[in-house]
Amino acid sequence: MKNLLEVSNLHVYFETPAGLVRANNGLDLQLEAGGSLGIMGESGCGKTVLVYTLLGLQQPGKIMNGSILFKGRELVNLPEAELNNIRGRQIALIPQNQSTALNPLLKVGEQISEIETALKIPDTGLDNTKHLLAELGLGDIHSVEHILKSYPHQLSGGMRQRVLTAMALLAEPDLLVADEPTTALDASTRTTALNILKKSSSKTSLLVISHDLPALKILCPKLAVMYAGRVVEYSDTESLMENPRHPYSRMLMKYQQSAGFLNMPLTGFESRDLLGDDKGCSFALFCPQATAICLKEIPQEVCLESGRVVCHLYTRNGVQTC
Ligand SMILES: Nc1ncnc2c1ncn2[C@@H]1O[C@H](COP(=O)(O)OP(=O)(O)OP(=O)(O)O)[C@@H](O)[C@H]1O
Ligand SMILES: [Mg+2]
Repeated sequence: MKNLLEVSNLHVYFETPAGLVRANNGLDLQLEAGGSLGIMGESGCGKTVLVYTLLGLQQPGKIMNGSILFKGRELVNLPEAELNNIRGRQIALIPQNQSTALNPLLKVGEQISEIETALKIPDTGLDNTKHLLAELGLGDIHSVEHILKSYPHQLSGGMRQRVLTAMALLAEPDLLVADEPTTALDASTRTTALNILKKSSSKTSLLVISHDLPALKILCPKLAVMYAGRVVEYSDTESLMENPRHPYSRMLMKYQQSAGFLNMPLTGFESRDLLGDDKGCSFALFCPQATAICLKEIPQEVCLESGRVVCHLYTRNGVQTC
């Protein structure tokens, strides 16, 4: 199947008083048209930076190198006016924090009208939105009317989640990106959020950033594991969960099984680890299987039966590099 999104060798750096932060550092990923891809990796590994870079909103980060092909079109260095046509219309985002993503001073209906105007969606007197919200399980038209007349603080977390999803789906985007859609939700709101995304996946391709493995298993047939700004393993979700190949993925899956959710640094990795010399494998210092080469040479991608892994373990074993 043709790729909807192809990110290659993406480098996004931030200049900070402490030095250069390599938030995305040679990142590769692909998403098939109509497919759903999950991305997991511990806090600070560059997931949200990737999301905003896809939308052309990475500043003050700078794209130092790499390519983002969306529907075959290069997004890196695309003029702002053209990015504007893609943002929200073709690539839409459900942002990381649903409790702060809505304007507290405007009623939900007013915010939706603003989006319709900004995205030049024909004004249907909110009919499309009402239909979408009802479809997303916010009850009959009467309760939907009530939601549109409410301020965000008058809604529950689950309701706000549905409103944000409806906003993101308004323009019928080709790609819906959900950044940690289940984090900080209680069990029933989480189930609602999952159902919403599952439903949405029949209309749009999904890129789901999450620490929530069971959620990723439900939503995404493909999974990428990120570490220190790179995708270190990519595979069928089930294969990656059952038989992780990268030592970091193994650690991550083991941790998930024992702790359930990854809400704290697993390796003690911090943003300062994205600073400094860019040599060797970023995981080498924490890796139980590291050898001398891991400290010296940046590993290349290696093809395996069900996916790809970026680790010297596999090149040493004579497996062909991709
Ligand atoms: N505006 C910024 N200025 C400087 N550094 C930044 C900026 N935005 C992000 N970073 C750095 O980029 C790195 C990646 O951040 P990012 O928000 O992408 O992490 P994440 O993987 O989404 O983490 P989390 O799981 O906690 O959401 C971090 O080290 C962060 O400090
Ligand atoms: Mg994030």
